[in-house]
Amino acid sequence: MNCRYYIPMLNLVGRGSVSDVGKEAAILHGTKAFVVASEGNVGEAQAKQISDILSSEGLTAHLFCEAVPNPTVSVVEKGVGRYRDSGCDIIVAVGGGSAIDTAKGIGLLVTNGGNIRDYDGTNKSKHAMPPFIAISTTAGTGSEVTQFAVITDDEDHSKFTIVDWHMTPNVSVNDPEMMLSMPPALTAATGMDALTHAVEAYVSKNATPVTDAKAYKAVELIARSLSKAVKDGSDIEARENMCYASFLAGTAFNNAGLGLVHAMSHPLGGKYDLPHGLCNALLLPHVMKFNMDRASGRYSELAVAVGAGKAWHTERENCESFIRFILNLSREIDIPDGLSEVGVKSKDLEALADEAVQESIGATNPRPYSAQQVLDVYKAAF
Ligand SMILES: [Fe+2]
Repeated sequence: MNCRYYIPMLNLVGRGSVSDVGKEAAILHGTKAFVVASEGNVGEAQAKQISDILSSEGLTAHLFCEAVPNPTVSVVEKGVGRYRDSGCDIIVAVGGGSAIDTAKGIGLLVTNGGNIRDYDGTNKSKHAMPPFIAISTTAGTGSEVTQFAVITDDEDHSKFTIVDWHMTPNVSVNDPEMMLSMPPALTAATGMDALTHAVEAYVSKNATPVTDAKAYKAVELIARSLSKAVKDGSDIEARENMCYASFLAGTAFNNAGLGLVHAMSHPLGGKYDLPHGLCNALLLPHVMKFNMDRASGRYSELAVAVGAGKAWHTERENCESFIRFILNLSREIDIPDGLSEVGVKSKDLEALADEAVQESIGATNPRPYSAQQVLDVYKAAF
């Protein structure tokens, strides 16, 4: 079993770590930063905060606060134009997966040219991006440490995944103080995204001892802290544990890959514009049931890690305990009961299943699947 382990060169995790961003940008020879953030008041405030930190180290900043949920081709293209016009020499993204994925798309096009669709697939670019710092403000996406970006086509709402190690940020930041004002529903959804990253990486066909170590610890931290962070957003210890968990889960799936949950959640998120983490949370227990016979030993280990399983129980018993544990956690943090509750229509499920089987992100799922089997999982999650 060979391991190729990609990770940012520098990873800052913990309280107050964002204050080092200016210093690190200067070390990367940045003089003018293109700061990418989400549209709206929250994104603008975050971009301003980063701009102030950068200016304390002598950098100027051009703010691009236009990232949208499920980032689109058109926003990436607009960002490329603005980057070129602004004369920036470093990219700093601040926000959730949307802002960071938007920044990755912009960076890739700035140095490689062409259309962002050209990079759909694996390692299609020839040149490195400009220096890139990614600051996560939601503990879940993992985008701040990964070589992945998921972009949505404006016209047909289809999503495509760019896998390119040139997009791996030079520096990642996970500071719990940046997450204190995150509302409970977003904390819950992004936390379940992190849990899904860890679980899918742990049972992935490409898992290695390196990714296992990251994913296992991430699951344990999430079991201990997610519900606390949702119930009391000011619980800095729970927030910090979620930072570590999200970071660890991100480094695990960046190298082990994901599975059927993500393959099924991408078409759902694209079609209905639903939060990515929410889609994962609704699908995860049902995909685990589908995978159970091929991954019972692995799920059983995670069940023991979270205290839901016992070493002397059978693997099957532990799998079922782990699934129950996840369902209970979802209920505790107010995740809805099924896809029908978030507006998914049963008449769309067949087309969604056809799309899901085309998603390359599912290739590392422990059990192969057909469109009919995926449809059955969607129905079970309905
Ligand atoms: Fe995800």
